[in-house]
Amino acid sequence: MTGTSNVRSNRRVLLGLTGGVAAYKAAELARRFVKGGADVRVVMTRAACGFITPATMQALTGQPVFTDMWDTRIADGMAHIELSRDRDLILIAPASADFLAKLATGLADDLLSTLCLARSCPLAVAPAMNVEMWNQAATQRNIAQLRADGISIFGPGDGEQACGEMGLGRMLEPAEIHDAVAALLTPGTLSGKRVLITAGPTYEPIDTVRGITNQSSGRMGYAVAQAAVDAGASVTLVTGRTSLPTPAGVVRVDVVTAREMHTAVMARTNECDIFIAVAAVADYHVVDARNHKIKRGDGGMTVELAPNPDILADVASLERPPFCVGFAAETENMRAYAQEKRRKKRVPLIAANLAQEAFGREDNALTLFDDAGEHEIARAPKIVVARRLVEHIASMLGLR
Ligand code: C5P
Repeated sequence: MTGTSNVRSNRRVLLGLTGGVAAYKAAELARRFVKGGADVRVVMTRAACGFITPATMQALTGQPVFTDMWDTRIADGMAHIELSRDRDLILIAPASADFLAKLATGLADDLLSTLCLARSCPLAVAPAMNVEMWNQAATQRNIAQLRADGISIFGPGDGEQACGEMGLGRMLEPAEIHDAVAALLTPGTLSGKRVLITAGPTYEPIDTVRGITNQSSGRMGYAVAQAAVDAGASVTLVTGRTSLPTPAGVVRVDVVTAREMHTAVMARTNECDIFIAVAAVADYHVVDARNHKIKRGDGGMTVELAPNPDILADVASLERPPFCVGFAAETENMRAYAQEKRRKKRVPLIAANLAQEAFGREDNALTLFDDAGEHEIARAPKIVVARRLVEHIASMLGLR
């Protein structure tokens, strides 16, 4: 499947750079915007100029770059207002911890922060910082405030950092930021639709401290939730235990067991147009789970298991079912098993992946099976794959 989303050619973006090693990625990001025909105006803080020169950004965008409140190139001396007036979006990439703190408190002591405060267009930020800075309570407080203020937060990503440490804080790649901007600026293909999504693993207790679960991280389901919100849907996410933050704009319902997930989903099927079952649901639960910690005995131990309800099949067999999408995580014979699952569960669309190449990873690749045949979504970060899946669902429903 091709269908890469693009920032439309007539879009006007103000790209703000703050101080961070990731500033070099902003050059590639600007190039991508310009290649797609977008109009990109760059504003840089003094710290950003220590990492990359305005001349580079000017050459890539073909437009003058602004760094100073008192720039005489703006006729009436109102740079802090004029530069964002005709823009569809202000995007700060990279957004340093310091700049996020300024935004959260409404400080305006340089051109870029003043522009943000004086804007009338949407604002998005792509944080970039060391993992410890990202994890600090102050930064997390600022991020929560920015979310509450309606600012879109793109990332950060997980992985190796310039300082050699590992963890959250890496700026998203230019392709990911570009796609997120495209989604933000495109009128939502799912606008007005209500989407119910399951995500993550389920956990089946054996006793009060032990249980049966699986390797699902929840990342794919959370990415689908984010993509659906970005496409304009109102989204409810019924999730098993994960360590992931709730995507902005999503209503989250926490569950633990498959039977709890079943109850939470069945109670909401009346209020949904599309149901996407991404969760890795346990097939069995423990009969007679103990409400105390089981003590070690001398011999072996037998645990009796009973089947869990099939949530997806139950939703699909309702009298008036929502549009149902299933996932199939297989370790072998993916094609055959996925097609059989589609027939058995009677769902119009199954998204299949290889469990060993999907579980716990940052990226994924999917093969979609529907009445029209097979469609490949190439390996990419899960959020990119999720956006393509959402586009496919929208096209099956005649929404794009
Ligand atoms: O049968 P299998 O577990 O492989 O089916 C996978 C699909 O069915 C996924 O979409 C999963 O979320 C859903 N499922 C479910 N309830 C179950 C088992 C699977 O909704 N008990």
